[in-house]
Amino acid sequence: MKPRILVSRLVFPEAIERLAEHFEVDYHQEDAPLPPAQLAARLADKQGALTLISDRIDASALAAAPGLKAVCNVAVGYNNLDIEALSRAGIMATNTPGVLDDTTADTAWALLLASARRIVAADKWVRAGQWQGWKFHDDWLGDDVHHATLGILGMGRIGQAVARRAAGFDMRVTYHNRNRLAEAEEAACRAEWVDKETLLRQADFLVLMLPYSPATHHAIGAAELALMKPTAHLINVARGGIVDDAALIEALQHKRIGGAGLDVFENEPALDPRYFALDNVVLTPHIGSSSRATRLKMALLAADNLIAALSGRRPPNLLNPQAFAG
Ligand code: GLV
Repeated sequence: MKPRILVSRLVFPEAIERLAEHFEVDYHQEDAPLPPAQLAARLADKQGALTLISDRIDASALAAAPGLKAVCNVAVGYNNLDIEALSRAGIMATNTPGVLDDTTADTAWALLLASARRIVAADKWVRAGQWQGWKFHDDWLGDDVHHATLGILGMGRIGQAVARRAAGFDMRVTYHNRNRLAEAEEAACRAEWVDKETLLRQADFLVLMLPYSPATHHAIGAAELALMKPTAHLINVARGGIVDDAALIEALQHKRIGGAGLDVFENEPALDPRYFALDNVVLTPHIGSSSRATRLKMALLAADNLIAALSGRRPPNLLNPQAFAG
């Protein structure tokens, strides 16, 4: 008999076909999360699960699933998984690093350019029929990206992909990360390590690329925003909660920074409605990795992790190897 797995939410048929060669698949074929009680009930008789970032997998989700051996997240971020609870229960956890680096870096750049040059507000204005004629001293004087200083907070694979793209804009690239990159990696990105305060003070464009955890909760709050230049733009395609949204809204309302480009929010999708009244912020609905090709690669990589985990092999992207050592 094939092992039973749950796919908690709509993915791609290609991933389901691959999984169905190995497993009996219980597929929640809707693009909406299962309510927690239904998720727990459908996990109860399963050996594996393919989960999305909207599924909270913690001790209560696992309590009724004694046979579960692997939870494979279709995302690089995994703050929806309680890794300690999974490890205590002897369940493997995996994510999908690598395949979404370039797409997510592209999204960061899209927001950066849109914020710098006020693209979204200008588009709205044109559509509203307000353009009466070309002006030299128009209402859309933006900030230059070329030759500016890019600051990247969190310099993993995606941070480095963001940095590499800055070469075309002749930017100075600074970064802050707990661990400094090796010299060769710094050279490949033309990036210079600086302490966090220097990063905040000098960046014209500050891009956040940290994973979310209690340690990074509100890494950017009122005190950090106060250090930024009044013309600086803040870009977040990492996770909501890294930025204190109330403090950022306040800074944007009082024009204490130049602008922001945000793909992620605290309590998303229930955004703080004060964002909607601001024209110095560009808002997108957590689409960092959302190209068709990349989302397909993510689903297939998660499927491969699940197939490996339930065939007695070590999945390529195991997050809790210490729970299975020895
Ligand atoms: C998306 O947010 C991801 O973590 O992959």
